[in-house]
Amino acid sequence: MATQRTLSIIKPDAVAKNAIGEIIARFEKAGLKVVAAKMLHLDDDKAGGFYAEHKERPFFKDLVGFMTSGPVVVQVLEGEDAIAKNRELMGATNPKEAAPGTIRADFAETIDANAVHGSDSPESAEREIAYFFGADEICPR
Ligand code: PPS
Repeated sequence: MATQRTLSIIKPDAVAKNAIGEIIARFEKAGLKVVAAKMLHLDDDKAGGFYAEHKERPFFKDLVGFMTSGPVVVQVLEGEDAIAKNRELMGATNPKEAAPGTIRADFAETIDANAVHGSDSPESAEREIAYFFGADEICPR
């Protein structure tokens, strides 16, 4: 499997819990490298644009409300099979269904506030990374 990049977001609930370091440590221990990172407080336009594919879903307004409720940490993770590896570390979207030891099982309580986001395909990763980072903000290591 080739080296990939993926976009990770530590969401407002996990930032509020002071869990940024513990979550990034899980990525690093699994062999993923942080090659870009920044803390942002998203506004409606930026969060809504990011989740545009879910615009018609009943939870869209709540999702944007949650993602703008406090700061987030966006990162680009790099490593072998990074997209699948990150999603495995994250666990299922609904924390109640997330496998024990995953980030969502350990740091999230509800599907509305589920601690982390990770790109779900190479195409999403490319779009999502470009949505938050310019090429000059990514530092290959
Ligand atoms: S899908 O159909 O697989 O694309 O949808 P899914 O991946 O399950 O969810 C997409 C994102 O929407 C969030 N989500 C919700 N937010 C608020 N309320 C409800 N009920 C809800 N259901 C799903 C979910 O956390 C996903 O966010 P990201 O950041 O992509 O993980």
